[in-house]
Amino acid sequence: MHILVSGGLGYIGSHTCLVLLEAGHTISIVDNLINSKIETLEKLRIISTSDFQFYQCDILDYEHLETIVHEGNVDGIIHFAGLKSVGESVSNPLEYYRVNLNTTINLTRLAVKYKIPRFVFSSSATVYGSAKSPLVESQKLLPTTNPYGETKAMCEKILNDASQANPNLGVTLLRYFNPIGAHESGLIGENPNGTPNNLMPYITQVAKGKLEKLKIFGNDYPTNDGTGVRDFIHVMDLAKGHVAAIEKQKSGVQVYNLGTGKGTSVLEIIKTFERVNNLEIPYEFIERRNGDIAEVYANVLKVGKELGWKTERNIEDMCRDAWRFENQNSQYEEEKFSELWK
Ligand code: NAD
Ligand code: UD1
Repeated sequence: MHILVSGGLGYIGSHTCLVLLEAGHTISIVDNLINSKIETLEKLRIISTSDFQFYQCDILDYEHLETIVHEGNVDGIIHFAGLKSVGESVSNPLEYYRVNLNTTINLTRLAVKYKIPRFVFSSSATVYGSAKSPLVESQKLLPTTNPYGETKAMCEKILNDASQANPNLGVTLLRYFNPIGAHESGLIGENPNGTPNNLMPYITQVAKGKLEKLKIFGNDYPTNDGTGVRDFIHVMDLAKGHVAAIEKQKSGVQVYNLGTGKGTSVLEIIKTFERVNNLEIPYEFIERRNGDIAEVYANVLKVGKELGWKTERNIEDMCRDAWRFENQNSQYEEEKFSELWK
């Protein structure tokens, strides 16, 4: 199949591109580089032996996007592009609604116009709001706590309505839990701009000495050790979930959780990271972060049964691979910096 991957140079998109190529699909990546680097393109070309197309294009630019779809003979779309910082969505909600809704509308309009039968969308466990885990796809969604979460719930609704009105448009909504880790080459991984908000990139930057110590948000949750519990999933397992979803796309709308089904606490992650990488992570406990809940983990029975997909990597793999990426990427950036000063 020929798959158009929107946001394919981002964290999850870049890993998914590699798995799509490995599975024998051809791809066109569309990205405007607002939250990714052109170097990722070079790195994908180093890792993969298969060729692919790249278009630097803003998905908000419908006319430009249409020329790409028109040329492409596209069989399916995987839509990753969008803005994803929860905090930023609270301070700049209009930008989040503008970008996340309009990128989805533009791609869906083109899927309908060009009769593209497969559309996979990056949703999030955030659409479950503060519901009690394990979270099941069929449960009624609770209000989300921030504009970012709202955009995900709204995009799900837009795609549901579009598929109902256009029965040839098959849609899969993938609700991700907490993706961490990196490709085993260490060449691509999660590389946030500025100080990380999410746990794993913060840990790797503390380990590297870029940040002084990890602040753990709360140790008084009703969990085994008092720290928050999440369903961490290796980004390569998550990537494989997309390939299973697009290959097995049916008509109508399918919804799947992509998680491991198992919760791991913040302290357990730190201890595992220290053990497998043989180093220490300085940390302190501070007050709970606004909007956080105690436990979030998936029920993964449906995705296992219907897509035949399950995770293969454990927390140790996630910690090892995240650390390998941090080291290689820091070295890469230092070398690039010294090149500039030559
Ligand atoms: P990312 O920011 O690394 O990747 C998104 C990519 O989309 C970037 O390369 C960015 O440059 C591109 N992009 C953004 N706006 C664009 C536009 N208007 N036109 C073209 N390209 C554009 O994010 P990610 O972590 O890879 O997440 C991918 C998707 O998964 C997002 O929709 C995100 O909301 C969703 N998601 C992510 C997580 C997570 O923990 N990373 C969890 C749940 C859901
Ligand atoms: C956050 C977002 C969620 C988004 C997800 C993936 C919030 C409230 N939620 O989820 O919408 O889908 O990222 O991008 O921002 N932690 C620390 N110290 C840190 C960082 C995190 O203790 O410096 C803890 C958190 O309190 C939490 C756990 O680590 O218990 C995981 O946090 P994080 O990686 O930010 O993910 P989520 O909060 O699950």
